[in-house]
Amino acid sequence: MVASQLSVHAKYGGVVPELASREHLRAVVPVVREAMSQAGLGWADIDAVAATSGPGLAGALLVGLTYAKAISFATGIPLIAVNHIEGHIHAVILEAAQRGTPVEFPALALIVSGGHTHLFEASGAGGYRLLGRTRDDAAGEAFDKVAKLIGFGYPGGPVIDRLAPHGNPHAIRFTAAKMKGNTLDFSFSGLKTAVLRWVESHDMTAEIAARKELLRVNPVPSTEEWLAVTPRATLDLVASFQRTVVDELLRHAVNAADQLEGVRTLIVSGGVACNSGLRAAVNTNSIGIPVYFPSPGLSTDNAVMIAAAAFPKFRRQAFASLDAAAEPNLALA
Ligand code: KG4
Ligand code: ZN
Repeated sequence: MVASQLSVHAKYGGVVPELASREHLRAVVPVVREAMSQAGLGWADIDAVAATSGPGLAGALLVGLTYAKAISFATGIPLIAVNHIEGHIHAVILEAAQRGTPVEFPALALIVSGGHTHLFEASGAGGYRLLGRTRDDAAGEAFDKVAKLIGFGYPGGPVIDRLAPHGNPHAIRFTAAKMKGNTLDFSFSGLKTAVLRWVESHDMTAEIAARKELLRVNPVPSTEEWLAVTPRATLDLVASFQRTVVDELLRHAVNAADQLEGVRTLIVSGGVACNSGLRAAVNTNSIGIPVYFPSPGLSTDNAVMIAAAAFPKFRRQAFASLDAAAEPNLALA
């Protein structure tokens, strides 16, 4: 059972916080009812109710957490507060266990989404150590901003992913940011600026207008429709941009795997983990340890990952109180 509000935000070129909370409010009760009816479950069958307490947009977090608290209060079912990033990690742990190839620990976890680009070391027992994070934009944010800049709408990651194979990923050389201090930190704002410079020095006005017009008449264009309004040079730009992001992510994963002796697996999760260029690069480059991706449906935000992260807490009886707060900047480690 999935409620999507992407179409609500698409026309604004990004997530509008007020609209996000309103859509959550509109969807939360019907979605929970529908999911329970599809599963044939009533409240008496439920052992605990889990909700994301952070990080994320305050309004959206409040809707989910308040609803979960209300259920807990009314039914006596215990409440579990889950960290959103831990959810992305558990999407992978859950699916790997279901496949009969459980993730072995300690694991590296690369979480790449619209809000996060974080590298953690995860111990099996639920402990996390932050190894590196973005100092500016998240990887997904870079995809979204570049896509918006050149008229591909929002969210940009999936469109760039589909068009990148039609361009030459080596056509434009974007240089990776040199990190002072922690070399496992990321930075994508320089790349974003480099793309902006490239766009400014090429006359893309007509093609951008054509893409915006396409989006106006058809909010979800097919790859062929995009290709019809995207010249070769722009496909090269898109492919080169994606390659640079993928190379950065891969380089950090390889460096972390080298630096941390004893790390046994790599987990890649979050919306950008859907990216086929990233999946292909990770699978063809030897990182030296097994790599686990979530299935595409569990890569982007979903409730299964929150339930999966809640389960070990349930076993430890690590319940939250009814005055648990929504924490927009909640850290995992
Ligand atoms: O995890 P997620 O659903 O939400 C956040 O927690 O942010 O990630 C959404 C992000 C967006 O920035 C979107 O453009 C990006 O994931 N994304 C992709 C792909 N699919 C989604 N980025 C690159 N390639 C994709 N195939
Ligand atoms: Zn997410």
